Amino acid sequence: MTQRRAASCGELRKADVGQAVLIRGWVNATRDHGGLIFVDVRDRFGVTQAVFDPRSGEEEARVAASLRSEDVVAIGGVVRARPAGTENAKLPTGDIEIAATDLSVLNRSKTPPFPIHGDGEIDESLRLRYRYLDLRRPHMQRNIILRHRAIKAVRDHLDAQGFLEIETPMLIKQTPEGARDFVVPSRLHPGAFYALPQSPQLFKQLLMVAGFHRYFQIARCFRDEDTRADRQPEFTQIDVEMAFPTQDEIIHVIESTLAHMFREALGVDIAVPFVRLTHEQAMADYGSDKPDLRFGMKLSDVSAAFAGTEFKIFSQALARGDAILAFVDPGGAARPRREFDTLAATAVELGARGLGWISFAGDGVRSSLPKAALTEEMLRLLRERTGARTGDALYVVADELRAAQTVAGKLRVHVADQRGLRDSKTFAFCWVLDFPLFERDEETGGLMPAHHPFTAPAHGDESLSGDPLALRAQHYDVVLNGMELGSGSIRIHDPAVQRKIFSVLSYSDADVEQRFGFLLEAFAHGAPPHGGMALGVDRIILLMAGGDSIREVIAFPKNQRFADPMMEAPAQLAPEVLRELHLKTDIPKRRL
Ligand code: AMO
Repeated sequence: MTQRRAASCGELRKADVGQAVLIRGWVNATRDHGGLIFVDVRDRFGVTQAVFDPRSGEEEARVAASLRSEDVVAIGGVVRARPAGTENAKLPTGDIEIAATDLSVLNRSKTPPFPIHGDGEIDESLRLRYRYLDLRRPHMQRNIILRHRAIKAVRDHLDAQGFLEIETPMLIKQTPEGARDFVVPSRLHPGAFYALPQSPQLFKQLLMVAGFHRYFQIARCFRDEDTRADRQPEFTQIDVEMAFPTQDEIIHVIESTLAHMFREALGVDIAVPFVRLTHEQAMADYGSDKPDLRFGMKLSDVSAAFAGTEFKIFSQALARGDAILAFVDPGGAARPRREFDTLAATAVELGARGLGWISFAGDGVRSSLPKAALTEEMLRLLRERTGARTGDALYVVADELRAAQTVAGKLRVHVADQRGLRDSKTFAFCWVLDFPLFERDEETGGLMPAHHPFTAPAHGDESLSGDPLALRAQHYDVVLNGMELGSGSIRIHDPAVQRKIFSVLSYSDADVEQRFGFLLEAFAHGAPPHGGMALGVDRIILLMAGGDSIREVIAFPKNQRFADPMMEAPAQLAPEVLRELHLKTDIPKRRL
């Protein structure tokens, strides 16, 4: 092939007509039009049409006619304008074509298990098995490129703010982030195991003790927890830590980083500063510590409106000290009765004891609550409290306060989904602040940190006296469209306070020494006040790309069973490898 300018499949335009070029890529499609062979060649930059005419090269046209989808080719020729009327306005290269004279078939492809050009639905297990083909598809290429641009924007922005990117080790000892660890057996230390980091938490704190002042890392984290649409066993964080920060300074760094990412990668200007809610307010208004602020439908406490009600379920709830909460479904009065019944069934599935509904239709009030239970005065109070207007519906749940908030919050999102109010092109960020320091561990009944045990108590709660569940933390989350994007906190830097927290969490002294002795020792060597945050990269890119699952924005994700169907990982080890690692297994051979 003669020397020609190498061009990508996305760059040639009318201005290039007359140039001798070489394009390389994958065969997207071929067509035979009366002896002329049209070959669409694709690479990640676009698609370019090449035309082989047997009159100017019989052998090349013959080989071109034999090409199949996904064969890899190099095609040389001269750029020319497409004949008038045959331009393709949908393609940036649609005004030109290559009058091809040379063709090299660099590799033949088997018939792919699914079509590559086009974004049709394909079974996910097949996609993961042939991930390298799935990644050739246009929307996956877009997602991976978006991810690159977003991460590059983060690096540029944080570098400009004086942050240093520092790697931390993968083979470590447990970090308590609340999930199970993945462990790695040590050959040199028989019977001992490394843990893979659930996050670089302790190392970034130690980097502050080491005086680096501002750290970040695009950090890989490993957590053995159930996969969900927004979770993977290994995932990536934008991990940040600062010395001598105020909470506001950290919030500002994170807001500006997210704004820079959205601008550079997506071309979207997001408004800063973000709305701030306290944890209590988020629970009261939205029934969630990750509120979706793309729509209103706030919850209202309507307990007072039902005072003295004859409706047993509500009167008993009030007597127990439970709450009665409600929210408005704007325009909901137009729903037929069976829709209310379906919603009531959904509410029960979501954990409600039941759902009361009231429809303020123009021709009168309808309700699932017994007529006698709804006096005119109650209806007036309900409308006053909730702002329900004629034409709206009102949903009411009664339960212990947190349970009622949680279920009403979930139903609120469900109703918003039904009404199409959760538009993926709208980005509603918020901060949730003033989290509790501890929560009750449902499994053990004991206390556990709401974030992690290195989080500093709120100002005024440092003594840790009183009901531990009433203590607040200097812990903040950033939330986008109902998804937790990141969590952070001001850390404890005083070894005495850190010991106190461990003791409230019922760690024995021996356990503390064994697990965290090095940290306490470091804190005794001049640890500066410090704090930081970690943002989930996969979740941010998912929301930028507008998909359903973070698997769509990770090049090689695991499936729901933590497996990689392409490599077939995890896999059994050969007996000699196990022997070297001093391991014995007695598990029956199982398929993934
Ligand atoms: P946290 O555990 O809240 O905090 O994690 C921070 C963010 O990481 C993302 N994330 C996940 N993404 C995908 N799959 C998972 N399994 C997964 N788990 C977490 C979320 C989450 O908000 N060291 C602390 C941060 C700090 O205090 O600075 C930490 O890891 O977006």
